[in-house]
Amino acid sequence: MLVTQYFSKDLYKGKTVFVTGGGSGINLGVAKNFAALGANVAICGRTQEMLDAAAAELRAFGTKVSADVRDSAPLEAALEKSRAALGAMDVLVCGAAGNFLVPAEKLSPNGFKTVIDIDLLGSFNATRSAFEQLKETKGTILYISAGMAYMPHAFQVHVGAAKAGIDMMMKNIALEWGRFGIRANSIVPGPIEETEGLKRLSDPAEKKKLINAVPLRRTGTVDDIGQVAAFLAPPLASYITGCVVVCDGGQNLPGSALFNMGAEQMLRAQQG
Ligand code: COA
Ligand code: NAP
Repeated sequence: MLVTQYFSKDLYKGKTVFVTGGGSGINLGVAKNFAALGANVAICGRTQEMLDAAAAELRAFGTKVSADVRDSAPLEAALEKSRAALGAMDVLVCGAAGNFLVPAEKLSPNGFKTVIDIDLLGSFNATRSAFEQLKETKGTILYISAGMAYMPHAFQVHVGAAKAGIDMMMKNIALEWGRFGIRANSIVPGPIEETEGLKRLSDPAEKKKLINAVPLRRTGTVDDIGQVAAFLAPPLASYITGCVVVCDGGQNLPGSALFNMGAEQMLRAQQG
């Protein structure tokens, strides 16, 4: 359910939100929730058609720029383009990511680097490029992390390293930039319905097992994450910084054993 059910539709009127990887899935869900509360939203990603479709959904609130977060100069240009169109950003959402299941011993150095570059370096590039705008607005940064950051998951060595790096970077940024009025927090989504991430990591045939292992007995929606993002952005949550906010229905509580078994089955099936 969109946040407009709970918050004033003008809460973010006149505010600007920039979402990396905002063309799809959870990040687009976050973008839509901010847009529904009146924010101007800019999204970036690599696939032009996906950005076009997403911007159409964001309608009048949206603008889109094609940029790969791994390349700092074009990303910086994208952030400047957003500023020129919508004003200095109040919220940066670092959501761009890549993921695939692979046993550590079969992961090439370039495969490992690719995910580190998109998730961790990409989040740093966006953070660094957004500094002046966020300083001006006393804005906030939201990193989209994952449970792999704090609990080992099988066939996720690259993602665990990248997301753990993001969460520690978030804390460093919160520590250093608090004096500028800039806050930084991470959101950890659980298994979110109809997303590329869930498709890659969980077998739809095993959905019942997945749901039974979540204490709240359901998968999440992109709006569950959108609601957390809206709460963590100014003017709300104004004294919260340096936190990892887990929004997973309690999925992490029993550990990663079910994920590990399911992932092993998926890999076996892929290998034939
Ligand atoms: N298993 C093992 N290695 C893999 C792999 C897989 N399933 N997919 C890619 N790699 C490796 C490649 O082999 C390559 O390494 P190499 O040069 O040593 O062979 C390296 O990763 C880069 O692959 P490439 O396809 O060139 O990367 P890309 O930059 O075009 O795409 C990905 C990045 C691989 C992460 C791609 O899956 C992607 O674009 N993902 C975005 C969407 C997504 O992952 N959503 C879920 C978010 S949770
Ligand atoms: P998704 O739709 O694939 O989202 C990832 C986005 O990142 C895509 O729009 C992708 O677009 C973009 N992206 C990838 N590489 C990029 C790059 N180099 N530069 C710019 N943009 C790039 O997957 P999702 O499942 O919704 O995941 C969104 C976020 O939630 C990720 O951070 C993920 O780790 C996190 N998460 C998801 C789940 C889940 O259940 N789905 C659980 C925990 C955490 P392009 O490919 O067009 O660039």
